Amino acid sequence: MDERLSPDQLFSSLSQIETEFRSDVEGAADLAGLQQIKTKYTGKKGLLTARMKALSSITDPAQKKEFGKRLNEVKNIIEETIKGKELSLREGEKERRLLTEKIDVTLPGKSTQFGRRHPINQVLGEIKDIFVSMGFGIEDGPEVELDHYNFEALNIPKDHPARDMQDTFYVSDDVVLRTHTSPVQVRVMEKRQPPLKIIAPGKVYRCDADVSHTAMFHQVEGLMVDTGISFSDLKGVLELFIHSFFGKETPVRFRPSYFPFTEPSAEVDIGCVFCKGKGCRVCKTTGWLEVLGSGLVNPRVFEMAGYDPDKYSGFAFGMGVERMTMLKYAIDDIRLFYENDVRFLRQF
Ligand code: DAH
Repeated sequence: MDERLSPDQLFSSLSQIETEFRSDVEGAADLAGLQQIKTKYTGKKGLLTARMKALSSITDPAQKKEFGKRLNEVKNIIEETIKGKELSLREGEKERRLLTEKIDVTLPGKSTQFGRRHPINQVLGEIKDIFVSMGFGIEDGPEVELDHYNFEALNIPKDHPARDMQDTFYVSDDVVLRTHTSPVQVRVMEKRQPPLKIIAPGKVYRCDADVSHTAMFHQVEGLMVDTGISFSDLKGVLELFIHSFFGKETPVRFRPSYFPFTEPSAEVDIGCVFCKGKGCRVCKTTGWLEVLGSGLVNPRVFEMAGYDPDKYSGFAFGMGVERMTMLKYAIDDIRLFYENDVRFLRQF
């Protein structure tokens, strides 16, 4: 179609292109828009490109030269203007990003949550510290235990009704998951001679589950053997322990009980931490809570361990760590310890 334009028309169309181009560039808002403008004028099918093709249709050499000069002028204007506009758009873009992407260093950061010791582990540590400060050593024993150590050597023969006190996981007829930490007493006595003053903390297992029982829980066993150990020693050590753990003002009482491995046996109660002894649902209106089993070591247990019961005497005790923790922090469901809810665990 350009071929049909007269040289005069071609000249004036170049001026139109220049005017249109200037107003297009003026309105370019971003680099993508500018690219479109560049294509519109100097692309393969661009307006200026079309004029260049029309150059050959001019027959008069002087006119041809004049038009060629003018073409070059417009082409240079277009190229320079686009270059300049591109530069200023890039500047603007940088400016805008500096403003919108700036970092406010005064904003509060995202904090990382730190883990902490499990409440059972914390309380276990406290119990150990108290006994270590009284000169007790710490001993360890297997969780998969022989029936012999878990029951027989503690004066609980097979088929004895006392076995009903503990619901047991049997691995085989002779092997059980230990139901208490008391077997460590026997293992230590077999290895060592008195005087003995040890505690044995660890996991124990019972086929049992409700708000106050889990199939796995923790106990701390205690054993002191020497010549001339009496019930007063038992009372003195356990009272000191309870006052250190629950506080000096906590009332303590010893109540007669039965365990096959101690004689006499006593259960240790503390004044109810929930109602301060007035009587409530937790203490079943008695004002007292049971916290420990204890007693003087049964001479039969000494005999089976190879100690002379005429020469030595001693006391033993056992407590549940979950129970101690529940009483110390007034927690009413043992299962909370094992649900791993951080909202619960973070409170300790
Ligand atoms: N082993 C007992 C239990 O799990 C607790 C216990 C009571 C341990 C009296 C003792 C003790 O050493 O003398 O129920």
